[in-house]
Amino acid sequence: MKQLANKHILLCVTGGIAAYKAAEIIRLFKTSNAEIKVLMTQAAQEFITPLTMQALSGNLVHTDLLSTEAEAAMGHIELARWSDAILIAPCSANSIAKLAEGRGDDLMTTVCLAASCPIYIAPAMNQAMWADSRTQINFNKLKENKFISIGPDAGEQACGDEGFGRMSEPKEIVKIVSKKFSTGLVAGKKVLITAGPTREKIDPVRYISNRSSGKMGYSLAEAARDEGGIVTIISGPVELKTPEKVTRYDVESADEMMKKVNEIIDQFDIFIATAAVADYKPEEYQNQKIKKKEKESILHIDLIENKDILKSIAKNKKEIKVIGFAAETQDIVENAKKKLLEKELDLIIANDVSDKTIGFDSDENEVYLITKKTEKKIDKVSKKKLSRNIINFIAKNL
Ligand code: PMT
Repeated sequence: MKQLANKHILLCVTGGIAAYKAAEIIRLFKTSNAEIKVLMTQAAQEFITPLTMQALSGNLVHTDLLSTEAEAAMGHIELARWSDAILIAPCSANSIAKLAEGRGDDLMTTVCLAASCPIYIAPAMNQAMWADSRTQINFNKLKENKFISIGPDAGEQACGDEGFGRMSEPKEIVKIVSKKFSTGLVAGKKVLITAGPTREKIDPVRYISNRSSGKMGYSLAEAARDEGGIVTIISGPVELKTPEKVTRYDVESADEMMKKVNEIIDQFDIFIATAAVADYKPEEYQNQKIKKKEKESILHIDLIENKDILKSIAKNKKEIKVIGFAAETQDIVENAKKKLLEKELDLIIANDVSDKTIGFDSDENEVYLITKKTEKKIDKVSKKKLSRNIINFIAKNL
């Protein structure tokens, strides 16, 4: 299940004989490259040890609400924020009752209260306990809230009874949880994105730069991550927060951006250059602030060309898919096509930056996706939606 790659799943195990099946659930998530953390209630630990779950998940198992170590960093809130989905499997009648009441008297219930992600619940108990009207009322209450039910199934039970109450099979549970996530178009692919402007220093207080906000690059990073990519941004100075689960390196100048790209590029499958890299930099950096000169109304600063990061990667790293952007103010498609060929790119995304409502520092963009063989226009949309389209195009066409 490609769509689980890189996703954060919190598996909560409560007390019941089906707890042993949690081991198989962990294995299935791990083989789909999800990152899995395990939380166990006290009763769960009577059925299967935290050590087993730790060995299988590769992460420390969370058991205590009032652990001084974890709670110094607000452990329950951290866990809730970390999770893309929470799965309670098996979920006992007692846990269903506590969750339905909205109690917060142990780690699992507090994490569920604090979570904003979907919470899946796979009940497992004796058929009579499941059929009991109080359990049914509690379970229906949960379904009316944010909980998504999986099972239970009917069949023979550990106690010898027959009927509803068996936990659904681990395969089925993992399949249902995986449906929450998009299709994993770039699952497991390592994606490097440059974003934002560069600053080319003139003296200690002045620089040459441009209006790039980084929004295009950062929303592409989110879209690639949501499709299962392992994403890194090399960012010029911007006011944006690093998207969750994305690695970020900050740089200032084009030279610094080039150095960082060259340092790490070999780890990547896809390189997307959204950064508005300055084409020129001052030939000489002045160590002291340039003073205003009496009677001289013109100041000359000699500029020299920056190295082209995108071109050098496309020429030297043929095994990587290389995508460039073209910010144009006229003859958008023709100029972008020239850049596509000259820089030997797999795809160029051309945007008209003469229109102030798109391109630089706006929330929307309108672009042409151009390869050697195809040309596709995407009408004005939010950069978020556009980014999903671009990642889709890359996955399907390159
Ligand atoms: O950041 P936002 O406010 O969201 O704005 C988004 C954007 C307008 C900056 C973005 O959509 C965009 O068009 N980025 C490319 C801007 C640009 O520098 O275009 P260019 O035509 O000058 O460069 C062509 C390509 O070469 C770009 O992919 C650029 O990153 C790359 N380049 C350019 C010069 C250089 N020295 N090294 C490079 O890698």
